[in-house]
Amino acid sequence: MIYLNGEFMPIEKAVIPVLDRGFIFGDGVYEVIPVYSRLPFRLGEHLERLQASLDGIRLENPHEDSAWQEKIGRLVELNEPEDQSLYLQVTRGVARRAHAFPARTTPTVFIMSSPLLPPTPNQINNGVGAITAADNRWARCNVKSTSLLPNVLLRQLAIDAGCAETLLLRDGQLTEGSASNAFVVSNGILLAPPKSNLMLPGITYDLVLELAAANNVAHELRNISEAELAGADEIWITSSSREILPVTTLNGRPVNDGRPGHVFKRMHALYQEYKAQVMRTAHG
Ligand SMILES: Cc1ncc(COP(=O)(O)O)c(C=O)c1O
Repeated sequence: MIYLNGEFMPIEKAVIPVLDRGFIFGDGVYEVIPVYSRLPFRLGEHLERLQASLDGIRLENPHEDSAWQEKIGRLVELNEPEDQSLYLQVTRGVARRAHAFPARTTPTVFIMSSPLLPPTPNQINNGVGAITAADNRWARCNVKSTSLLPNVLLRQLAIDAGCAETLLLRDGQLTEGSASNAFVVSNGILLAPPKSNLMLPGITYDLVLELAAANNVAHELRNISEAELAGADEIWITSSSREILPVTTLNGRPVNDGRPGHVFKRMHALYQEYKAQVMRTAHG
């Protein structure tokens, strides 16, 4: 079951007009929200980032947070899996094709649920491969825009190389992955690029940094050079669907000894414990 413009329906019944600006221009924004045991995880943070993305493309939020919560809660109930991945998209609606904003349109609002596919034990225990590529996206990567063609092409480079992610370098500095944020452990310190217009402010990125601060994991926000990435003790990628994954090969070479590092193992345990605690609190 999905939600489209005020109605819940099976996905096979859902259609949008071809003149939707999401289809014509990629003129929209989105969120991906994991649901664990029927509980949308960090929903407040996702709705806050949705608002920031809408502000970034000058589109009025069609719903108050309480209305979003209500629709999302209903959709979670209408779908079977206990663990789900919600995809939520808002576009600038349907209008005659012209670049300028239409004078009056109703935004298109679409929410779908898919079964959540968590990282596999093999990915967690052995890590994944990554490659690097030049970050050739626009300069507003903080907006979670549905215009994802650069990200799609960059991710495909990783797939073509038999890897899981492409880590992006802009002016010699690590920005993020094609669909993830990136962390590095160097000299025992957890490093992450500071938030800027050149990366998406990840919900998982924030949580990892919160957990690091709360548990005395030495960490620092600063630029990470290509050389530092290549010589890192550990590299991780994070996202709502992949949680935290260790990168154990980079451009075909092992990262350190080619095994997930001890800082990763600690953070992975802290993350799982945090999730379990949130669910215990919510379900009593
Ligand atoms: C480009 C990009 N950066 C970072 C992330 C991670 O963000 P989050 O942790 O909120 O899923 C994503 C998520 O898909 C992404 O597409």
